[in-house]
Amino acid sequence: MIYTKKINSRVYLIRASEFNDLNFHGATIKTEMGSSYNSYLIIDEKITLVDTMDEPLAKEFITTLEKLLDGRTIDNIIINHVEPDHSGSYEEVLKLAPNAKTYCSAKAETAMKHLFFQEHEYEVVDHLSELDCGNYTLQFIHTPFIHWPDNMFTYLKEDKILFSNDGFGSLLSGTKIYDDQYSKFELEDAAKLYYANIVLPCSRYVKKKLAELDSLNLEFNLICPSHGIIYRSYISEIIDLYKQYCNHTIKPKKVVMIYESIWGSTDTCTRELASVLVEKDYDVQVFKASVHNPSLIMKELMDAEYLFIGSSNFNNTYPGPIADIIERIIALKPQNKKFLVYGSYGWAHVHLKKIEEQLSSLSYTEIEQPIYGQYRPDKARKEYIKSIVNNLE
Ligand code: FEO
Repeated sequence: MIYTKKINSRVYLIRASEFNDLNFHGATIKTEMGSSYNSYLIIDEKITLVDTMDEPLAKEFITTLEKLLDGRTIDNIIINHVEPDHSGSYEEVLKLAPNAKTYCSAKAETAMKHLFFQEHEYEVVDHLSELDCGNYTLQFIHTPFIHWPDNMFTYLKEDKILFSNDGFGSLLSGTKIYDDQYSKFELEDAAKLYYANIVLPCSRYVKKKLAELDSLNLEFNLICPSHGIIYRSYISEIIDLYKQYCNHTIKPKKVVMIYESIWGSTDTCTRELASVLVEKDYDVQVFKASVHNPSLIMKELMDAEYLFIGSSNFNNTYPGPIADIIERIIALKPQNKKFLVYGSYGWAHVHLKKIEEQLSSLSYTEIEQPIYGQYRPDKARKEYIKSIVNNLE
């Protein structure tokens, strides 16, 4: 469903709220609240479109644009990011506005040519360069690796609006568009889910760019991402949250336990460990890898101090759901973790060594050698678990 909202005297939000789109950016991210895609149309003496939409949305997007344009045409198209959820309907937009000029970064120009195999003309814009649009000015702020090398923000100077594309995005499909229409908990949760699963591996670029934005002394009336919520009341709060996220700030004593158990022995170890941790006032979150949404697990892991992974043996390795979550951890790179590996086995326990090696590649600190034993945990293993937890601090 695509709808529009006028967000100031000349800027319109065009939003696709995809309630059933629970697989975001391909199937790499699992959402439970659907997804949304925002593009923006500035209607003044010159008309500028900031970002397009994914190709399957093109028909509805063009119909919506035609209604807003009411016989006028688009002068400028800004491609803040080439990923197809923002550029996929570019060629359809060009059919609607064949004389429009397209502005993008040099990396975006190369990528657009590879995506569309057409000799469209692109105006490559430098970092901090400006485009005079008559009654308003657009400034381009290159933001490489937030989220791909080509990304940039566009700043509407007179109205102090930052079109931030993937930056400051959130995973929600609802019809409430502004931050103050949500509780602070909902806002933080949506921003954190998004950051942990999309922006986290780019944190060093985020840190650098936030420092640069501070030094530029830009003021923002609105931050308008291409996914989810528009910020107008909690702008400093979302920037502060991003500062925490990109610095890999952890919550002391927060433990994320991820496990997979085939016949129940590793499940018993997990319950034993979790209950001892809770008794010691740790904040424990337990996830069974085959049951829980891996994107939610990544959200919780991002600010955890401890990561405990428990696994059964599966033919000298670990079961598929554990492989999936380990690959996500390696890809998304949450930092500053202390880890522990545990599990049961029937006749071989090399799987725990493999998990240990994978986590060590992330420069995590191992708090103890893997806890393992054959079949169900006996009294001695339970006592050992207790002693490890007692020695954590
Ligand atoms: Fe929403 Fe990097 O695209």
